[in-house]
Amino acid sequence: MNITMVGTGYVGLVSGAGLADFGMQVICVDKDTDRIERLNRGEIPFYEPGLEELVTKNVRNGRLSFTTDLRMAVERSLVIFIAVGTPDNSQGQPDLSQVEEVAKRLAEIIDDYKVLVVKSTVPVGTNRWVKEVLQANMKKDVKIDVVSNPEFLREGSAIEDFMRPDRVVLGSDSQRALAIVKDVYRALYLIESPFVLTNLETAELIKYASNSFLATKISFINEVANICEEVGADVHHVARAMGLDGRIGPKFLHPGPGYGGSCFHKDTLAFAHLGRSLERPVRIVEAVIQVNRDQRKRMITKIEDALGPLEGKIVGILGLTFKPNTSDVRESPALDIAQTLLNKGATIKAYDPAGMDEFKKVVRDEKVSYCNSAYEVAKGADALVFLTEWNEFRNLDLKKLKKNLSTPVILDLRNIYEPERMAELGFKYSGVGRGTNI
Ligand SMILES: NC(=O)c1ccc[n+]([C@@H]2O[C@H](COP(=O)([O-])OP(=O)(O)OC[C@H]3O[C@@H](n4cnc5c(N)ncnc54)[C@H](O)[C@@H]3O)[C@@H](O)[C@H]2O)c1
Repeated sequence: MNITMVGTGYVGLVSGAGLADFGMQVICVDKDTDRIERLNRGEIPFYEPGLEELVTKNVRNGRLSFTTDLRMAVERSLVIFIAVGTPDNSQGQPDLSQVEEVAKRLAEIIDDYKVLVVKSTVPVGTNRWVKEVLQANMKKDVKIDVVSNPEFLREGSAIEDFMRPDRVVLGSDSQRALAIVKDVYRALYLIESPFVLTNLETAELIKYASNSFLATKISFINEVANICEEVGADVHHVARAMGLDGRIGPKFLHPGPGYGGSCFHKDTLAFAHLGRSLERPVRIVEAVIQVNRDQRKRMITKIEDALGPLEGKIVGILGLTFKPNTSDVRESPALDIAQTLLNKGATIKAYDPAGMDEFKKVVRDEKVSYCNSAYEVAKGADALVFLTEWNEFRNLDLKKLKKNLSTPVILDLRNIYEPERMAELGFKYSGVGRGTNI
């Protein structure tokens, strides 16, 4: 079967390469000419483990190609996926202009039956609206079915998530379209991945409810961590014991500087907005958003408690991405925290294994210098702040770090190290929710 994937970002490129690996003939389309040229040269525009190998393999076997020519791709395809961005519009609602632009272009091009599959995360009602946009702009009177197929992959393990998803959600009014898209995912059907077949609105809501729930777990454990700090409890023990309860589960109970990434931020805002617009406020999600904002501020207080006034201080930051194994810095806590440190007069030395290029595009400040290793960051710094738990930060030579630091202060905001050991080594150390000797 021939498929068009519109958008070659994290979701589109992983899904396109994944579907090609399932045996589909996939044409990936992007309006970003530079990105398509790079992909045609074999360059992957962002870091995602295993993606380069998957793309190379499927380009070589002739099942995956890249173009800016939407018309050519659509003419050859029965199924068209939309995986363009839906960023927050800064008023708490997703900006649907990329989706609308694609829908209008498709309306000009399509001249026989197609199935349009919306993979982008979009508010409830958007798939129906996309159908209206298509119908209002169609040049020819042909039938198009729309299927909502929200994506749940996690950056950093996106390939594994796409190849072995916990579930595939498909929503549509059309049984014919559902059967066609199920066929696209036949490989997953064969390995017995659960499929949830439902209507458009339900599929759309599943995505927001899922991400909001995960964000809730993170904000919840961050609040528990803050209480732990007051009463002398260890949040790791609390989280482990909670997680051993099968009804709770161990995942997403890691305290830290607050959730980041493009999805949780905008999806919680959008879900809260939906509730308000229906006069059914989702009060838990409203609180989750506020707790996350406060958690970032709390991290600044921790740094100030350790260093005193930040004016003139040199702060070393290890980790800039919102999580390990990605180059993505969208909504990364490091952005907020670095900006606040700069506003308060600090100078920053930073290192991240994959995210420095993206970070530089957002934080353009001569008071930030970029280094090649954790040890280089530590040299002459007044404190080291861990903001992403990359594996390479887990086994650092702590004696060397201490020697390089001008004062041995570590703010381990991802709880990578053990407080007792750090105190024994002579560090002034604070994690999140685990006691401190600062
Ligand atoms: N990033 C994730 O981990 C993730 C996970 C699940 C769901 N999602 C959702 O998937 C969607 C895509 O997210 P992403 O992170 O891959 O976005 P992204 O911003 O990385 O990529 C979007 C791509 O779409 C392209 N594009 C925009 N308009 C276009 C047009 N008119 N024609 C062709 N290409 C166009 C852009 O050039 C860009 O390459 C969003 O709705 C997001 O919420 C993302």
